[in-house]
Amino acid sequence: MSRITGKKTAMITGGSRGIGLAIRERFDREGINIVAPTRKELDLLSVSSIDAYVSTLGQPIDILINNAGINNIQPLAEVDDNNIQAAMQINLLAPFRLARALAPTMKERGYGRIVNISSVWAIVTKTGRAPYSMAKAGLGGMTRALAVELAPYNILVNAVAPGYVDTELTRQNNTDDQIEGIKKLIPMGRLAAPEEIAEVVAFLATEKNSYITGQLIVVDGGFTCL
Ligand SMILES: NC(=O)c1ccc[n+]([C@@H]2O[C@H](COP(=O)([O-])OP(=O)(O)OC[C@H]3O[C@@H](n4cnc5c(N)ncnc54)[C@H](OP(=O)(O)O)[C@@H]3O)[C@@H](O)[C@H]2O)c1
Repeated sequence: MSRITGKKTAMITGGSRGIGLAIRERFDREGINIVAPTRKELDLLSVSSIDAYVSTLGQPIDILINNAGINNIQPLAEVDDNNIQAAMQINLLAPFRLARALAPTMKERGYGRIVNISSVWAIVTKTGRAPYSMAKAGLGGMTRALAVELAPYNILVNAVAPGYVDTELTRQNNTDDQIEGIKKLIPMGRLAAPEEIAEVVAFLATEKNSYITGQLIVVDGGFTCL
């Protein structure tokens, strides 16, 4: 049981648009205080920016949503060092750094929820996705490792793996024609709305979830079943 009463506070990375914005809106309806730094305030590419941001937070964070992510598609032979380093830093190492920094206060308060936004490309993959798939698969390992270590403190750590969601990231990586083709690969015949991902995150991030930890919850309209 949580030792804290009253409103919980959530930190959401990448809350400016897409899935992150939908999570902000969903949490707002849930009555959760929201800390959603812009990239200017917290640049996940920079270790010093993360450390500086965390050290000046000045309030306990009960819920961490590691949502920000990048997916620069490059075939293996063309993957450059900058891309692989950025993919690992933003999608995997920054979530780890934030979780490591915020977990001690969650432990002290006897409550915490961490939700990492993964991807179906952590489970299956596609040409040009090596940096992204590597990072998102790593996030799965991190989710399980932290779940085991933090469970005794009532800190539950899970990951959500969206399939194709109708966001700028998806539109940037696929033409309209490609999106029509993708819909045919999804048993539900459509992309997800960001709000449908946010709903699952809201469950995992609140006290409604009291026993799920270390899991990857796939929200893909059946895409990975085929
Ligand atoms: N869209 C999909 O179909 C899909 C599917 C599976 C998984 N996902 C995952 O879901 C998450 C959100 O995706 P989305 O589609 O909503 O993405 P999006 O629309 O491209 O938004 C990405 C967010 O991440 C932030 N961000 C990027 N680089 C950053 C940096 N260096 N420092 C701080 N913030 C940074 C962006 O901030 P700015 O506004 O400053 O750019 C933006 O808020 C990602 O982890 C993605 O991998 C998405």
